[in-house]
Amino acid sequence: MKQMTIREAQSRGIHLLSQTSPDQRGVNLDVRVLLMHVLGVESTTLYAYPERMLTPEQQRQFLSLIERRQRGEPVAYLVGHKEFYGLDFLVDARVLIPRPETELLVETALAGIRTRIAAGRLPIVADIGTGSGAIPITLAVEEPRLPFVYACDISPDALDVARSNCQRHHVEARVRLLQGDLLEPLPEPVDILLANLPYVGTTETESLAPDVYAYEPHQALFSGQYGLDLLQRFCKEAREFGTLKVGSIILLEIGYQQCQPLTDLIKELWPQARVTCTQDYAGWDRLLQVNLL
Ligand SMILES: C[S@@+](CC[C@H](N)C(=O)[O-])C[C@H]1O[C@@H](n2cnc3c(N)ncnc32)[C@H](O)[C@@H]1O
Repeated sequence: MKQMTIREAQSRGIHLLSQTSPDQRGVNLDVRVLLMHVLGVESTTLYAYPERMLTPEQQRQFLSLIERRQRGEPVAYLVGHKEFYGLDFLVDARVLIPRPETELLVETALAGIRTRIAAGRLPIVADIGTGSGAIPITLAVEEPRLPFVYACDISPDALDVARSNCQRHHVEARVRLLQGDLLEPLPEPVDILLANLPYVGTTETESLAPDVYAYEPHQALFSGQYGLDLLQRFCKEAREFGTLKVGSIILLEIGYQQCQPLTDLIKELWPQARVTCTQDYAGWDRLLQVNLL
């Protein structure tokens, strides 16, 4: 096959991906990210040296990644990492790819942690359903005064990925990885309880992007018929197990139709609690905050 320059590789990639995707901006971005990955360069190099030749091996790798992308495999899995809250996380098919909307949960948790630290208290924080570790690792990196965070997941495979990410960000001593079902692995009551658990209903499978359904772990996506099973059990067990200290907060990432049913349940469990629902940047209900008195 004729050797290609960066410019030719870009046009070829765009031509091939446009055959399966109508999203031109997405296609352009995917091609750039895949090319940067194969060449091991920053995007500025692509612009500055469009006539640079790819080696035969780089060309083979690039076209093979384009082919996998054409079949729908997410770019983050193809390149093996994803940015979240300005940090780079290793990801593969064992974990959900961290989503930008989850940054809302992290920002709110950081505010809660800092308020407590400013009042002279070091909060006990736990993240349930930790996946790649994006949430607890970001908290540990962003708030060095936080002594440690519990990070729990039912999947030992996901925790292996989280462990690699802890090492990558030098927080392995401060992120305590625990394997088990929901709150069961927690060794002590906490002040701030976070969770981005699966919240897609099996009835919503049709509306899910086909790439998500085909490639991301179903254990990280689905939670019963309406997506509420795990979140409801989580709330009931948090009450039953005495997981929360006085004055603590719960922060839950939720699906866009889940604010009301979960608020009703929480009000039953903790009649005195203050419950607020915040929308994400796209305007969907995304974060449920529970302040326990
Ligand atoms: C939606 S993913 C979120 C991953 C990560 N927190 C993020 O925001 O990118 C949900 C995670 O919950 C975990 N999970 C599913 N069922 C669980 C359970 N019963 N107990 C604990 N974790 C569970 C999955 O393995 C998965 O890693």
